[in-house]
Amino acid sequence: MCGIVGVIGREPVAGKIVEALKRLEYRGYDSAGVATLENGHMERRRAAGKLRNLEARLVESPLHGLIGIGHTRWATHGKPTENNAHPHASDKLAVVHNGIIENFRELREELIGKGHVFATETDTEVVAHIVTEEMRGGLGPKEAVAAALPRLKGAFALAFLFDGEENLMIGARLGAPLAVGYGDGEMYLGSDALALAPFTDTLTYLEDGDWVVLTRDGAQFHDMAGRPVVRARQRTQASAFLIDKGNHRHFMAKEIHEQPEVVGRTLAHYLDMSAGRVNLPFDLPFDPAKLSRVTIVACGTAYYAGLVAKYWIERFARLPVEIDVASEFRYREAPMDPHGLMIVVSQSGETADTLASLRYAKEQGQHILSVVNVPTSTIARESHVAALTLAGPEIGVASTKAFTCQLSVLACLAVAFGRARGALDAQAEKGLVDELIALPGLMAEAIKREPKIEHLAPSLSKATDVLYLGRGTSYPLALEGALKLKEISYIHAEGYAAGELKHGPIALIDESMPVIVISPYDAVFEKTVSNMQEVAARGGKVILIGDEHAEREASIDLHAVIVMPTMAPTFAAIAYAVPVQLLAYHTAVFMGKDVDQPRNLAKSVTVE
Ligand code: AGP
Repeated sequence: MCGIVGVIGREPVAGKIVEALKRLEYRGYDSAGVATLENGHMERRRAAGKLRNLEARLVESPLHGLIGIGHTRWATHGKPTENNAHPHASDKLAVVHNGIIENFRELREELIGKGHVFATETDTEVVAHIVTEEMRGGLGPKEAVAAALPRLKGAFALAFLFDGEENLMIGARLGAPLAVGYGDGEMYLGSDALALAPFTDTLTYLEDGDWVVLTRDGAQFHDMAGRPVVRARQRTQASAFLIDKGNHRHFMAKEIHEQPEVVGRTLAHYLDMSAGRVNLPFDLPFDPAKLSRVTIVACGTAYYAGLVAKYWIERFARLPVEIDVASEFRYREAPMDPHGLMIVVSQSGETADTLASLRYAKEQGQHILSVVNVPTSTIARESHVAALTLAGPEIGVASTKAFTCQLSVLACLAVAFGRARGALDAQAEKGLVDELIALPGLMAEAIKREPKIEHLAPSLSKATDVLYLGRGTSYPLALEGALKLKEISYIHAEGYAAGELKHGPIALIDESMPVIVISPYDAVFEKTVSNMQEVAARGGKVILIGDEHAEREASIDLHAVIVMPTMAPTFAAIAYAVPVQLLAYHTAVFMGKDVDQPRNLAKSVTVE
């Protein structure tokens, strides 16, 4: 996924564009570029690698234009080289693109047949040439874009700059977010509110199919049919959030440490702490008592949050829960109960597979509830109700605070459904709410274990394969722990239900295989002890993440123990996420990896 930005300014715009791209780098960062009009004519500066390479290029060869577009890339078509970096251009225009043009090959053939010469391997260059072809046929920029857009298939957010047009920029959106920002005599385009936060807090989000014509005087919106439409302006909060690392070395470290605060803030938004009950900050557009089934769909870490929630919703609300990864769900044509609820979980609210699954379920007449971190995101806007996580912007590509905030919201929903369905009485609810209220403090206690966890990094960094085991809600946490380690240290890791060990994975166990067992002292702890004994008996190195009771009862020779504060096991997964995250973080740091922007990844995958 990529980030795009455009500025029609009153002063040279290159610096503003780079500043906006820095706030979009979390969306993709393998190359970047800027195009401006210099004395009416287009000039581009592009660079492979991190944004600092583009900044260096601009120092060497500055741009002074008062109108320009910029892009930070996560490569989909074509290697992350300077030549494939956006903006892509013809002799008449430059364009930046987030998304995928699925029919680019046939369009490319057609345009080559009309004499167009392509300089790159990208799908985006087709957009530059298809609009240019319309202009060569005599259409002006606006008419040419309007004629070309319906021919593009796939998902895209686009920003166009035209040679000789000092006061014209065109944006378009289908399936990838794009916002218009209003400044003082300036206008902006950006992939999200974060990008434009330094310039404005007044935005308009394009709807799918919209395109917009910007001049310094304002914006004219059009729908896919080209009809003028009105789109609401809104104030955003993004500018209120400071996007910096504070005194931490990485955004990921900052965001791990923020968890007691943001989980506390999120819980306070959903609980009446003095009354000891759940108090949802919105009206449910359905009666939980009439629900027949819940379907949960998400990707990656958000999926693991959903997997934890399955245990809670089934246990407290007595509702059957089906769960699937969005990339599978969207194509399997699942039959859905007429009185069903779909819960989609997404930090960004823009993940393509999750959005497609939402739309399928909506067509099937499901109630749609999303758990999202970006209130203005597409998933939030297309849900019947959006349950917000108040994690604040999560910049580290590896999700941490969003995950624990998702779990917090899902826990509150499970309890609220249980009450509404008469499966929980007020006393049971109060007990559960008291356990939730204790979590921020327990997470702060867990963070104090960081030096002990950091101490494990050197030995873990030597592993080529790591196994994570857990039972109950610790099983999805084992999956999440494996993902965290994989995605930032690049060490292969697998999460497994501890009870599954003897059904195959135990063949992997030898002294070279660290086995991380996540287990508070819960009802299945004895079973987990057996699993740890099976591992130890084969020379495996067991690292237990448990409380002091578990440590005492483990009755085996443990390679290491991360002793967590004693807590009720019900929602322990929320607190136990902290050592799981820190273990991956410190291992990756010890290995010198790019923790905030791991190779091959992007923060939100808005393409299939
Ligand atoms: C998590 O660390 C990963 N960055 C990734 O799995 C992520 O959770 C997934 O892409 C879903 O993103 P979303 O929550 O924005 O939908």
